[in-house]
Amino acid sequence: MIDRLAIIHTAETTHSLSKQEIMLLLTSDEYDQQLFMAADRVRSKYVGDQVHLRGLIEFSNICQRNCFYCGLRKDNVQVKRYWLKPETIIEFASKAAGYGYKTVVLQSGENDIYTVADMQYILTEIKSLGLAITLSIGEKTRAQYEAYKKAGADRYLLRIETTDRKIYAKLHPGMDFENRLRCLSDLKKLGYEVGTGCLVGLPEQTIESLAEDILFSKAIDADMIGLGPFIPNDDTPLAGEVGGTFVTSLKVMAITRLLLPDANIPATTAMETLNKEGRMIALNSGANVVMPNVTEGEYRQMYRLYPGKICINDTPVHCRGCITGKITAIGRQVSQEYGYRTKK
Ligand code: SAM
Ligand code: SF4
Ligand code: FES
Repeated sequence: MIDRLAIIHTAETTHSLSKQEIMLLLTSDEYDQQLFMAADRVRSKYVGDQVHLRGLIEFSNICQRNCFYCGLRKDNVQVKRYWLKPETIIEFASKAAGYGYKTVVLQSGENDIYTVADMQYILTEIKSLGLAITLSIGEKTRAQYEAYKKAGADRYLLRIETTDRKIYAKLHPGMDFENRLRCLSDLKKLGYEVGTGCLVGLPEQTIESLAEDILFSKAIDADMIGLGPFIPNDDTPLAGEVGGTFVTSLKVMAITRLLLPDANIPATTAMETLNKEGRMIALNSGANVVMPNVTEGEYRQMYRLYPGKICINDTPVHCRGCITGKITAIGRQVSQEYGYRTKK
């Protein structure tokens, strides 16, 4: 007889599982509640009850890549493209600091619009505001990563998206899985806190490959793991696909927490897109970070990765109040700290 409760107990106490054990948890929903509660206990024990907020600045939707799932892909002509001037990015960051954020995440499509000198200027100015900085701007050279780090970037998010090389190749034309690995390795060596993670529910993705995705985060000892459902976008080649489910994404996240007890794990926007309480459910199932949008004005609508993205008509002030209320309502507190990973 398969004892899934014993597997959950092993994960909670040893923070280690085999691929087969992870697959057993993912293939049955019988003990989902026990899994979520175990992840919640591990989260509380290792990273505490405080929730770290990271203010997300979506500073350009221009992208030279063609990832099949993403609304920002180069070939999507439905998107009105924008890029914010360095001064505007700095202004949004400054306002975020004013709303009490300790970290900003600078995210964009992959492009060469911003030179290294531009990025150095933006990073130096934002750093002088007393903020920690996370970058999420795709694959770059080691020299670029090094220059950003020197200018003040602390963390970098680069999801592996899927560790299944065949799926990776199909969904990322012109991209190379090996280069993605090289980027993650360079970032780690340069002293960044490194974030990775996967999309859940990609076409042809199997339970086995999801288990491998979880083990990948563990193998590279990721400091942050962002994962969520793939949500099909009508303006992409994956229009008409089924996409990922909320529950499977939540389970992948909960197992990730059990295996990486001290990592920072966000309750992602895509989770809330599929379930209107998604981020709070995620916070109660292993997550300890939320990334509210601090981009202003029309740009939020234009940064449309997938349909139904939350907060696109809201303001930074509104989102800050909204998320604080929700976090307080579940008995947690908004952290006043920078929220770096403390290895335990
Ligand atoms: N261009 C950078 C990169 O790819 O790392 C950062 C921006 S990219 C829009 C951020 C993340 O959005 C990707 O890592 C991907 O997982 C996610 N994403 C893109 N399209 C999505 C979709 N249709 N559903 C859910 N997440 C999606
Ligand atoms: Fe560009 Fe990132 Fe979207 Fe890929 S996921 S198309 S790199 S913005
Ligand atoms: Fe944006 Fe709730 S966080 S409206």
